[in-house]
Amino acid sequence: MSSRSSLLTPHSSPQFAVLPPLSIYIHVPWCVRKCPYCDFNSHEARGTLPEDEYVAALLADLEFALPQVWGRPVLTVFIGGGTPSLLSVAALDALLSGVRARLPLAADAEITLEANPGTVEAEKFRGFRAAGVNRLSLGIQSLNDRHLQALGRIHDAGEARRAAELALATFDNVNLDLMYGLPGQAPAEAEADIAALIALGAPHVSAYHLTIEPNTYFHRYPPAVPDDDDAAAMQSAVEARLADAGYGHYETSAFARPGRQCRHNLNYWTFGDYLGIGAGAHAKISFKNNILRQSRLRQPKAYLAQAGTAEAIGEQREVVAAELPGEFMMNALRLNAGFGLELFQARTGLGIAGILPQLEAAEARGLLTRDHRRAAPTALGRRFLNDLIGLFLD
Ligand SMILES: C[S@@+](CC[C@H](N)C(=O)[O-])C[C@H]1O[C@@H](n2cnc3c(N)ncnc32)[C@H](O)[C@@H]1O
Ligand code: SF4
Repeated sequence: MSSRSSLLTPHSSPQFAVLPPLSIYIHVPWCVRKCPYCDFNSHEARGTLPEDEYVAALLADLEFALPQVWGRPVLTVFIGGGTPSLLSVAALDALLSGVRARLPLAADAEITLEANPGTVEAEKFRGFRAAGVNRLSLGIQSLNDRHLQALGRIHDAGEARRAAELALATFDNVNLDLMYGLPGQAPAEAEADIAALIALGAPHVSAYHLTIEPNTYFHRYPPAVPDDDDAAAMQSAVEARLADAGYGHYETSAFARPGRQCRHNLNYWTFGDYLGIGAGAHAKISFKNNILRQSRLRQPKAYLAQAGTAEAIGEQREVVAAELPGEFMMNALRLNAGFGLELFQARTGLGIAGILPQLEAAEARGLLTRDHRRAAPTALGRRFLNDLIGLFLD
């Protein structure tokens, strides 16, 4: 029997009794300046942002997408970028009011906004909170001026600190992003960075190893980054410092105090559904017997011109059943606690029997542990996550 046909038993198409939880991602594609390491769909803002036009486009886009999620409550909203904190309070308020008018937002919905420490003012933060934002995610990256400069950031360490303090004074829920493995960074400097970040006292930290992505300035002009041994030492130090400070390491790069995990990202990692509106935004939507993936036009100009029509959905495709185990694992195996076996069935609409051979193979290689209820990556599986996920790819 081929691996493909073994994946397809007992259902050859997904069947959902209950649809997965629904989130919404809203992309704002502008930044003050493009960072040399960044491959997100973000563009340097020249002159004034066309923010009124863009908010109108987002709402037209949402309106067009509504029939695909009719009646389903939205549990989380994530406004990411780019740098959404460039939006004025009035624009953000119009956006969130427009979302509320069109979709049943849960009363306790988590509403996150990404912000760059170089675009922060007290009054603006208060305005964002009044508009409904209840979680702020701040791109600190480092608290060392030399490294911030090497990363081409528009803020220095003092501004990053002040932005974090202001965020913590304004919002209950705050995430701070940190990167390590930076150009010219020594392990002791990475350790000093994470210690300084922890001292700021946010309930959530995301710590990323700097990756050199294709199509970035750093890819064309590679900086001297730490070697593999130093990078591994930095990762261990970052994880140990965060554990000592009481942060649970719940996903590859995510750490949270008890009860403060990011509900929006958890919905991705547990293979939930999400609408994605805005330039280049991705969506995954389940229906009774199939799952669709979409991505919106990437170029802000093209998106602005087409939003609210089928043309703005640049690509749409049905995920075939044979791809679902791999897609599910790419998300769920990032979680250190792994997943309950019933979640596989609930989110892919397929029976667990179809992936038993792969689960057994992963266990035999020491990449996964499991019992009759759960499966989780081992420390080895987390280290060789791509190999582990590869076992489930079509
Ligand atoms: C969309 S950005 C966040 C918000 C805002 N644009 C900013 O940079 O302040 C998301 C996060 O991804 C991380 N990131 C971006 N590019 C990265 C790369 N090449 N390697 C590792 N982490 C990266 C950064 O920590 C960044 O804060
Ligand atoms: S500010 Fe954030 S999104 Fe914008 S270019 Fe820099 S890393 Fe990318």
